[in-house]
Amino acid sequence: MPDLVSGQLLRFTADPFAVPPEEAAIHDAHGAVLIDDGRIVAAGPVDEVRAQSPAAAETALGDALILPGFVDAHMHYPQTGMIASWGKRLIDWLNTYTFPEEAKFADPAYARQQAETTLDLALANGTTTLASFCTIHEASVDAFFEAAEARRMAVMAGRTCMDRNAPDSLRDTAQTAHDESAALLARWHGRGRARYAITPRFTPTSTPEQLEALGALWAANPSCAMQTHLSEQVDEIEWVKSLEPGARDYLDTYERFGLIGPGALFGHGIHLEQRERDRLRDSGSGIVHCPTSNTFIGSGLFRMAQAKAEGLTVGLATDTGGGSSFSMLRTMAAAYEIGQLTGAPPHPYQLLWLATEGSARAMRMEDEIGTLAPGSAADLVALDLASTPAIAQRSVRADSLWEAVFPTIMMGDDRAVRAVWVAGDRLA
Ligand code: GUN
Ligand code: ZN
Repeated sequence: MPDLVSGQLLRFTADPFAVPPEEAAIHDAHGAVLIDDGRIVAAGPVDEVRAQSPAAAETALGDALILPGFVDAHMHYPQTGMIASWGKRLIDWLNTYTFPEEAKFADPAYARQQAETTLDLALANGTTTLASFCTIHEASVDAFFEAAEARRMAVMAGRTCMDRNAPDSLRDTAQTAHDESAALLARWHGRGRARYAITPRFTPTSTPEQLEALGALWAANPSCAMQTHLSEQVDEIEWVKSLEPGARDYLDTYERFGLIGPGALFGHGIHLEQRERDRLRDSGSGIVHCPTSNTFIGSGLFRMAQAKAEGLTVGLATDTGGGSSFSMLRTMAAAYEIGQLTGAPPHPYQLLWLATEGSARAMRMEDEIGTLAPGSAADLVALDLASTPAIAQRSVRADSLWEAVFPTIMMGDDRAVRAVWVAGDRLA
């Protein structure tokens, strides 16, 4: 029996960075999504959609805004327990807080508990898909995919590989990184809604031999994703140059081993040179903007408008626990603020697109998630646009949808999440 969910809808017909944002979206003030067997059958004006299936059971959400579930294209579930750790910048933050916490994932029971906590926090915030780094431990990958499978969530994840500049307990070799990643990839990639991402942490912790081995693994399994970090902090870039003096630039340390192209997800990319941006664009690689992390760890200001104008693929992400929030609303707010500081504040529709279809495209999953297109999975979030008194008194004055949703972007949190569906099942 199909289900009908009615409320306000926002549907994108184009990339709102490529055309004027309001021309990129259709707003149905009285809209509905028809769901059958976990998939979207139709989305549009409620009368038209209801006529397609008059017997469908209706959930009426009034003027709540129904969107595709948020897509967090870069995060670290093993860092959930140390989010909001004070006072360090990238390299000493990794050494002081991150690596000791990741070492705990040698215990599969701890990994399971943290995976479940993270996915429940994500869902409470309206995030239905995540691309997560795991740790070096195989069980950390199994734990995350199993927790997602239990919730029927489409997630991407991979074993984080490090064979230098990391504590003994978190170090592998080029060979073990390759072989254990290959085994996990065979176990999980394409099982149900799971996708595997080959995951070298970043050049400072992966030797050229390891990057070469993982490049070969990706070449043999091109439908997988590849996720890593790129040009996040100036000190990090200097370190990469001293470690790899033969490389043209930071990106080249990956590029020379085939670790660029469609499905490559580079977290941050704040301080890129022109050659790097050109290669990222021409190769169809994705940059994932992590604004709360970039301010929290003190990394710098990503120029999103410039990256989009140059034709790069850009997604949006929390980067927890370098990021300081599980909420993609808070993440959009931070992207807006960084946009202000770089002279190009994004429009609310651009932010909503990045948090859904933009991230899905970077992950090559836009046929499955991130839109309200018929055939897509029914992974949805419904937002209450008046979830607190402060937001309500502002949104009531709005005379367009983008004005009404902006206070929720800037001031909203999990209280704005009225309902969430994963594969057609309502969770909250
Ligand atoms: N660079 C390498 N590892 C990490 C990490 O865990 N978080 C962030 N923000 N940057 C990184
Ligand atoms: Zn990261």
